[in-house]
Amino acid sequence: MKTADLRGQTALITGASSGLGEAFARLLAARGCRLILTARRADRLEALKTELQAAYGVEAAALPADLAAEGGPADLFRRIEALGWPVEILINNAGRGAWGPHRALDWADDRQMLALDILAPAELVHRCLPGMLARGRGYILLVASVAAYQPTPYYASYAAAKSYLLNFGVALHRELRGSGVKVCVLSPGVTRTGFFEAAGQQQFSLYQRLTMMNAERAAAVGLKALLRGRASVVAGVRNGLIAWAAARIPRAWAAFFTEFFLTFDRR
Ligand SMILES: NC(=O)c1ccc[n+]([C@@H]2O[C@H](COP(=O)([O-])OP(=O)(O)OC[C@H]3O[C@@H](n4cnc5c(N)ncnc54)[C@H](OP(=O)(O)O)[C@@H]3O)[C@@H](O)[C@H]2O)c1
Repeated sequence: MKTADLRGQTALITGASSGLGEAFARLLAARGCRLILTARRADRLEALKTELQAAYGVEAAALPADLAAEGGPADLFRRIEALGWPVEILINNAGRGAWGPHRALDWADDRQMLALDILAPAELVHRCLPGMLARGRGYILLVASVAAYQPTPYYASYAAAKSYLLNFGVALHRELRGSGVKVCVLSPGVTRTGFFEAAGQQQFSLYQRLTMMNAERAAAVGLKALLRGRASVVAGVRNGLIAWAAARIPRAWAAFFTEFFLTFDRR
């Protein structure tokens, strides 16, 4: 496969302290990118930075930030500007879910999740896009979810937030054609990361166990699709079929089947 030469380009990776974000950092370091790693856990970012600098000889910076906090993305962007590295590749990956009946979720927590899953990636796109357009090139990857394709009981708010990212990203891909800026939405299915612990889901359903992927594979699918100029990609054939089917049946049916597969072996 012939793909773009990314050597020396600066990649901002959000949520780089674990899971998919860490996998993206490794993939981009291997391609010679200069890295800006961000998440809240500074110790993990520093360890990854040191490891990737040593392994690939790339420049890297660890900029800890809380992207759900008021002013968090703006403050991060100011620190990136002070660093003087133009963001040429934006991997909008940081995100989290909240598992459980919606009526039982805490509003402050739900609000914070929506700030992280919707507002932070939207703001980072706004802030990075002008520079990309001025340079006539750039890459933006938005990490949504297979849950973006259907109403998802017990992840109701999270899945709806991911639907925002899916539609936002695919629309941007269309608007920006011919500009040199490529936008792609990656929708992973169930992936072995810290996601479920952070979401408060202790056990996996049978369906989740059967469709589980590893983070390296899902990240590689996303990066390949981004570099190839695709508008969106679902990681894995099974997940792709689920998303394809969910988009073709009435939403109420999709909600019914999703609830069934997430909960039938827990009742
Ligand atoms: N795993 C799955 O099954 C799955 C499926 C579909 C989509 N996704 C999506 O994939 C993306 C990556 O998640 P993951 O699976 O890799 O889970 P993960 O291992 O829990 O990683 C989430 C990342 O987001 C960061 N993060 C969380 N809250 C943050 C905040 N307030 N400010 C800044 N960074 C924050 C975390 O770092 P700190 O805690 O250090 O801040 C961590 O690096 C998310 O957008 C998720 O919705 C995951």
